[in-house]
Amino acid sequence: MHNFDAVGRRPGSRLVPRSANNLQRLTCAIGILLSLSISIHAQSNSPEARAANLAVCRQRADALLARMTLEEKIGQMVLITSTQVVTGASTNTSPLEREIRASRCGNVFNAFGADYVRRLQQIAVGETRLKIPLLFGFDVIHGFKTVFPIPLGEAASWDMEAVERADRVAAVEATAAGLNWTFAPMVDIARDPRWGRIAEGAGEDPFLGSAIARAAVRGFQGTSLADPSSLLACAKHFAAYGAAQAGRDYNTVDMSERTLREIYLPPFNAAVDEGALSVMAAFDELNGIPATANRFLLQQVLRDEWGFPGFVVSDYTSVNELVNHGIATNEYDAGRAALNAGLDMDMQGFIYHDYLQKMLQDGDINQKQVDDAVRRILTVKFALGLFDDPFRHASDEREAALDNYPAEHLNAAYHLASESLVLLKNDKNLLPLKPGSNLAVIGPLADLRSDLLGSWSGAGDPRAAESVLASIKHDNAGGQVVYANGCDISSDDKSGFTAAVDAARRADVVVMLLGESADMCGEASSRTSINLPGVQTELVGQIAQTGKPLVIVLMNGRPLALEEESSLANALLEAWFPGTRGGQAVADALFGKTNPSGRLPVTFPRNLGQVPLYYNAKNTGRPINPARPREKYKSNYLDSPNDPLYPFGYGLSYTTFTYSGLKLDRDTLHPGESLTVTVDVANTGQMDGVETAQLYIHDLVADVGRPVLELKGFQQVELRAGEHRQITFEIGEKELSFLRADMTWGTEPGNFDVLVGPNSRDLQSARFELAGRPASR
Ligand code: BGC
Repeated sequence: MHNFDAVGRRPGSRLVPRSANNLQRLTCAIGILLSLSISIHAQSNSPEARAANLAVCRQRADALLARMTLEEKIGQMVLITSTQVVTGASTNTSPLEREIRASRCGNVFNAFGADYVRRLQQIAVGETRLKIPLLFGFDVIHGFKTVFPIPLGEAASWDMEAVERADRVAAVEATAAGLNWTFAPMVDIARDPRWGRIAEGAGEDPFLGSAIARAAVRGFQGTSLADPSSLLACAKHFAAYGAAQAGRDYNTVDMSERTLREIYLPPFNAAVDEGALSVMAAFDELNGIPATANRFLLQQVLRDEWGFPGFVVSDYTSVNELVNHGIATNEYDAGRAALNAGLDMDMQGFIYHDYLQKMLQDGDINQKQVDDAVRRILTVKFALGLFDDPFRHASDEREAALDNYPAEHLNAAYHLASESLVLLKNDKNLLPLKPGSNLAVIGPLADLRSDLLGSWSGAGDPRAAESVLASIKHDNAGGQVVYANGCDISSDDKSGFTAAVDAARRADVVVMLLGESADMCGEASSRTSINLPGVQTELVGQIAQTGKPLVIVLMNGRPLALEEESSLANALLEAWFPGTRGGQAVADALFGKTNPSGRLPVTFPRNLGQVPLYYNAKNTGRPINPARPREKYKSNYLDSPNDPLYPFGYGLSYTTFTYSGLKLDRDTLHPGESLTVTVDVANTGQMDGVETAQLYIHDLVADVGRPVLELKGFQQVELRAGEHRQITFEIGEKELSFLRADMTWGTEPGNFDVLVGPNSRDLQSARFELAGRPASR
């Protein structure tokens, strides 16, 4: 057995280079942005440089701490919302400015705009004894003013540079408006599409999720946290929030430590490893202890095992909610439990604000606990450069420039929106459409702009977006477009059906824009059905009866059950909520100006009864025989196949890709060595395109049963029609490690399959043996 120091640490970016060609293309397209602040591997951002810088910041924090009164210290542990934007139930009874002036509030959220931020900051640094600057937090989730696709859509791009760039753009914009802290990335793994917040994360896979967590942290925090365009990142919601039972938001989570560590924690570990200096505790109860008061999570895992040097903030009033969870009698008790668990900052709960002093007097907590929390918070403020210039993030000029939506920002949003589109079906190459077509555009999402932005759309303004309908009209130059709404998103009104069917009859091709509204996804937006809401599916049935070629474009923030739609439509394009430039991105893909290259970051089940359905499942003792899937006494259903409608990693292109010649450079791997996997990928179609080659492993026998597939690498290649290229992956002990029976990370000798292909279903495989002493069984 071989021990590794990493706990769930994944190499992420090491295995995900884009081709040089492609990178070059992207680099040219966003030259100005790159020269601003995307400099991914800059020396100043190495882990060593970060640690050295933090050590200096910690010393400065200590010196300041020595001069602080208890009341001033407690103020640093308090985070209060402004009333500018409200993201939860308001419990704010004290006027914000008075609290800042009295040093009773050291951090503010939901306040932005250079002018307003400057005013509040001026109170903190001009009217308080120690002039400690404020943190200004906000949910900058998928863009600030320029809105990118929802995070699940961003993840579908599998393009780490593009994700990093999106968050860099978001940071440049948000800091101009005075913000210095984002409550992102949301790195919760989610396997249940009922949960509305699945939209906010990177999907179901810990490897992809970790790579995205790293990209996001790099994007938000830039090459130096002290740069005026850097936002402090906050990995949330720690932890396992995405596993809420029955997909109901805020619900209880009960899971094995193995699943927690192997599936749910790796993206958090990756974010921390990449330098995220804040973490948000989750709302959920995990194995009996709410995350907000969970010492195992906040102290043991986060600080003792991972060495997290930053601070932990609660979620919105989650300290207060400890009473409802039934682990505290009252708010005093709740505050004590949270602090004892290692929670440094109370978001909007006013519990630290109101009770910490008494707790200390009563001996329920000690001075060191308070000092440790305040030191961590101040250290981050020093790292952000706030003591050197507290106004560094608010810039009238930079903010005013945003009103014109810098072209580089819009281009980055267009690029990522295009890359997030997943082509799920394209019979007889119905797509791309030819400009000049006679089209009917039907459906409730065709002419909406607000929903394009999705939930948590920051300071995004739908008026800056163009609807898909408008973009289709633009792209279909010389042709005809008849539009009919058909129905609403979720009402049962069918009065628009007749006009829609008429429009379809008169057209040569029908394009339907269907899905969910933006507010059906995100927080507090769980559903017990994952069908298209309202009467949309019925409308599809009626349109399909016209016999006209039918394209369905979907906007939604979760996997939907699309068996019926997919059988009726000739082409299906998943567009998520694609953001400010999403309308153009969708239309351009429909007309072949771009070639869809997105891949599902989450499984699309056939029906809700299959949920949870994820690719990295276990084999069970009675796996089905694919040739006889309904066989009795096998792990199956009487009324549904086991397999999903569209598997994890799936997505088509207007061209075709063929894999051949999978080779391993050895069939036995010895400890300390690595194995080279090569495969040839050819573009065998008529169009240039981007393919995402995915590498999975299967550890055939171990002391602990392993998933049938685990993603361990992916690479994107841009191939011209007719071109082919050999792709190489490296596999070492890290990729083969897992949490063994004794709960240590490492490998066990034995046979492994390596599987490579375009998605988690269509794979070629080769076998090798990991040599070593057999494990004791
Ligand atoms: C959400 C967090 C968010 C916070 C502040 C909470 O309700 O769970 O994700 O960051 O509000 O807006």
